[in-house]
Amino acid sequence: MAVLSATKLLIFFFFSCHLSIFSSTATAVYTIGVNYGTIADNLPTPAQVANFLKTKTNIDRIKIFDTNPDILKAFAGTGISVTVTVGNGDIPSLAKLPGAKAWIEKNILPYHPKTIIRYIAVGNEILATSDKTLIAHLLPAMKALRSALDSANATSVKVSTPHSLGILSTSEPPSAGKFRKGYDKLIFAPILEFHKQTKSPFMVNPYPYFGFKPQTLDYALFKPNGGVFDAGTGINYTNMFDAQLDAVYTAMKRVGYEDVDLVVAETGWPSVGDPGQPGVSLENALSYNGNLIKHVDSGKGTPLMPNRTFETYIFALFNENLKESVPERNFGLFKPDLNPVYDVGILRSEQVNFLDGCVNP
Ligand SMILES: *[C@@H]1O[C@H](CO)[C@@H](O)[C@H](O)[C@H]1NC(C)=O
Ligand SMILES: *[C@@H]1O[C@H](CO)[C@@H](O)[C@H](O)[C@H]1NC(C)=O
Ligand SMILES: *[C@@H]1O[C@H](CO)[C@@H](O)[C@H](O)[C@H]1NC(C)=O
Repeated sequence: MAVLSATKLLIFFFFSCHLSIFSSTATAVYTIGVNYGTIADNLPTPAQVANFLKTKTNIDRIKIFDTNPDILKAFAGTGISVTVTVGNGDIPSLAKLPGAKAWIEKNILPYHPKTIIRYIAVGNEILATSDKTLIAHLLPAMKALRSALDSANATSVKVSTPHSLGILSTSEPPSAGKFRKGYDKLIFAPILEFHKQTKSPFMVNPYPYFGFKPQTLDYALFKPNGGVFDAGTGINYTNMFDAQLDAVYTAMKRVGYEDVDLVVAETGWPSVGDPGQPGVSLENALSYNGNLIKHVDSGKGTPLMPNRTFETYIFALFNENLKESVPERNFGLFKPDLNPVYDVGILRSEQVNFLDGCVNP
């Protein structure tokens, strides 16, 4: 009896499922990081999110904008690494070792290493705040957190801080990239020296979404386009993402630190904009994020950084309904009910098709 039903099941499986399995093997599978923002009142619980990412997607790393203990607990044992963020306002209190030690004891040690904490992002886009106190305490806080981690033997947790591309005074063409005057030697050389010493990455948030003009939309979206020529290098750039990263690379090289790793801490494109907003559509969000994932997973790097890989975190995991503007609310790859807004190739399609095709025919 048991054997018979197993056979029946197998026959049922064969007839109802072989098509979806064959079709799914043709789908390329990519890995990617995502920013898990939570400015919303309708999101699934952290435990549901952790289970969903682990079982249904190829997302293998997340970044959060705080140290939410529920999220840190939920990702324990998932193999998905977590980057946490120090609140901007907390930076001054972490610039001395006792403050940094207390912060690590409260926010990292209870969770790590059951939850793999990959990076501590010390604030977000601190240079863009123009707040002199925060800027002055940024590197001291990074150093104190590093010391506090070392004295707790949490050496695998790395310390960094994400920057907007506003740190560059010139970014076009890429060969002219340079840090803002005054910040280059005083701020960025010491930060990059810290990264070199501690083998941690320089984090940037490149957003072609904020940089395109009507005539460069296809270039920003990784669509076929006429390219943008850089007379300084003779390179014909075919996408704005590469151009933005190479501008950062050139700025780093000018101060002598081109070998420090780069991490793309945020990038993305909204799928819905304000009425009449140029360049924003579901199709464009799919083009940007889908092609971005293929590009960074290809490992081919950029024209000035051939074959270098950039750990990349898409903004964002979810549409967040409490954000201020329509486009800001629509950066998500997923809706709060865990259905994709569009499919960028990170679903484990076999399991998904199996469930769709076999359990709910
Ligand atoms: C860190 O590791 C060293 C050497 O294994 C050990 O002596 C020390 O007690 C450890 N410290 C902590 C805080 O676990
Ligand atoms: C740059 O590449 C594009 C696309 O391959 C091509 O159409 C264009 O002519 C090239 N421009 C230059 C200056 O080489
Ligand atoms: C990049 O990788 C390709 C293919 O493996 C190789 O031919 C090329 O020499 C590499 N370039 C650099 C600069 O390492």
